Amino acid sequence: MKGIVFSEFIEMVESKFSPEMADEIIMAANLPSGGIYTAVGTYDHGEMLELVAQLSEKTDIQTGDLIRTFGTHLFGRFNELYPTFFNGVNSTFDFLSQIEEHVHSEVRKLYPDAELPVFETVRLDADTLEMTYRSGRPFADLAMGLIHGCALHFGEDVVIDQEDMSEEGRTHVRFTLTRQPTHAG
Ligand code: HEM
Repeated sequence: MKGIVFSEFIEMVESKFSPEMADEIIMAANLPSGGIYTAVGTYDHGEMLELVAQLSEKTDIQTGDLIRTFGTHLFGRFNELYPTFFNGVNSTFDFLSQIEEHVHSEVRKLYPDAELPVFETVRLDADTLEMTYRSGRPFADLAMGLIHGCALHFGEDVVIDQEDMSEEGRTHVRFTLTRQPTHAG
């Protein structure tokens, strides 16, 4: 996993909890990297799972909730860091439909060693998008949080249902997104 994901996670812990909490979980996790990440470096994704496990233990918040919160936060950061991906895109479904072919494919050009999941999207009708996540790593909750962050960004009310099809961990999940009617006027 790229260092940028780790640095964003640690910054989120510092701001949502405290700098001391960030130090504590890094110490307790006993990481090969020592918790020092550079944006372009690549680190074992197990370090992220370990940091989240430590944060869960110290805060009594479930790991899934922590990863989803991080995903939502991360989407806001991606918006700041990579504004060009947002040019000309006006809705949650349009943005999510081009993750695979436009966004992550560009990420792969920037970072050839990026470990990215595979997404398959099917537009079932105007208000329903099916998005299937598959990865060698168990980060479906991160995807869930990013999807939620995307809907918040576009100011749309989207209900996210999920069906876990994983054989192990959270590696294969089908999300069904239903856009709710707006009650304008
Ligand atoms: C501007 C938007 C986005 C950018 C720039 C971006 C970029 C990235 C980067 C740099 C990584 C790390 C790769 C690595 O660790 O080697 C990553 C991983 C990931 N991305 Fe995105 N991403 C974006 C949007 C999204 C969205 C909207 C979703 C979900 C629908 C998503 C799902 C994921 C997941 C789940 C991973 C973790 C790796 C895995 O599950 O195997 N990303 N992305």
